[in-house]
Amino acid sequence: MSYNINEKGYYGEFGGAYIPEMLYPNVEELRQNYLKIMAEPSFQKEFNALLKDYVGRPSPLYFAKRLSEKYNTKIYLKREDLNHTGAHKINNTIGQILMAKRLGKNRIIAETGAGQHGVATATVCALMGIECIVYMGEIDIARQAPNVARMKMLGATVIPAKSGSKTLKDATNEAIRDWINNPVDTHYIIGSVVGPHPYPDMVAKFQAVVSEEIQSQLLEKEGTENPDYLIACVGGGSNAAGTYYQYLDNEAVNIIAIEAAGHGVDSGESAATSVLGKEGIIHGSKTLLMQTNDGQITEPYSISAGLDYPGVGPMHANLYKTGRAEFIAITDDDAMKAGLDLCKLEGIIPAIESSHALAVFDHKKFKADDIVVLNLSGRGDKDLQNYIDYFKL
Ligand SMILES: Cc1ncc(COP(=O)(O)O)c(C=O)c1O
Repeated sequence: MSYNINEKGYYGEFGGAYIPEMLYPNVEELRQNYLKIMAEPSFQKEFNALLKDYVGRPSPLYFAKRLSEKYNTKIYLKREDLNHTGAHKINNTIGQILMAKRLGKNRIIAETGAGQHGVATATVCALMGIECIVYMGEIDIARQAPNVARMKMLGATVIPAKSGSKTLKDATNEAIRDWINNPVDTHYIIGSVVGPHPYPDMVAKFQAVVSEEIQSQLLEKEGTENPDYLIACVGGGSNAAGTYYQYLDNEAVNIIAIEAAGHGVDSGESAATSVLGKEGIIHGSKTLLMQTNDGQITEPYSISAGLDYPGVGPMHANLYKTGRAEFIAITDDDAMKAGLDLCKLEGIIPAIESSHALAVFDHKKFKADDIVVLNLSGRGDKDLQNYIDYFKL
């Protein structure tokens, strides 16, 4: 059995392209071309050169000595926080802007939650001289203000999404609406492994560089490509998909996915999709999502804007359903504490999304000789005000 996508665009029973007719030409154009374009030597050359010289890859695989001592296991942090623009999101936007150019598009739209994907999209649009419009929930605009300023400085137009919970889901709805109205010249740079096929696969492939690097870096440091555990937080699931990608079918490697429990899984204010979700369709794909008994999407909640989403990508829905990955839900409070612990122990201020992953060590015991690789998906600069307010610093 493979945990990767099949030729019809499904991971097990999840995935596909459930889209309004108006979007069909766009999505179909992408589906027919993405693998071909990605395989072109000139594409590979440009993509890899930008990842190296512009993003600063490879990102280090850092042995976190003091954190390891505290939890009596061997912890490596994959330092995606050190990428240009401060998170893993830039890997995907570099890939997609090159894709958009080859498809002859001259206008880019994107949605963003934490603003990291919005910043990464605005960045590559500035790099290529292409118009950029970013949709962002009104609540996220308030809680991730530094990233809104960054997007504006980079020349993007930021449009507030005012419906629903005024967060990532609603921003995505607005972006899809825009795309329907601008079907010819516009490419929609989706920021996670969500959306209609081929997006989940395309984004996972652009993020796969993370696990490619883990393999060679771990071989150098530990004499094996295989960790015992891979850990990543899951909003839509792109940093996790990148972390797992090369290991999906290698069952010697355990996979752990961390979701946001918000105020607690049973509190009514949560974004723990795997526990609370049921099968349904959101943003063009069949996956697990939080919904009422009559199929209305439930408004999610998390202190972390990047994890505040009522669904997960279809790859992750399948990893959950098949039991290939263990899913753990972490509350706001536990994440914030784990984030501050990393600051004090390792001198690294993590994004609140990544802090959720870090909280795993207070929830699960690892053996002393386990090799645990955790994707530190982003840095905490954007969250400084949230940390200040939470800890009354
Ligand atoms: C630093 C960081 N980590 C994780 C995420 C969650 O997204 P994904 O699950 O696609 O990696 C985000 C989203 O904005 C983010 O900014």
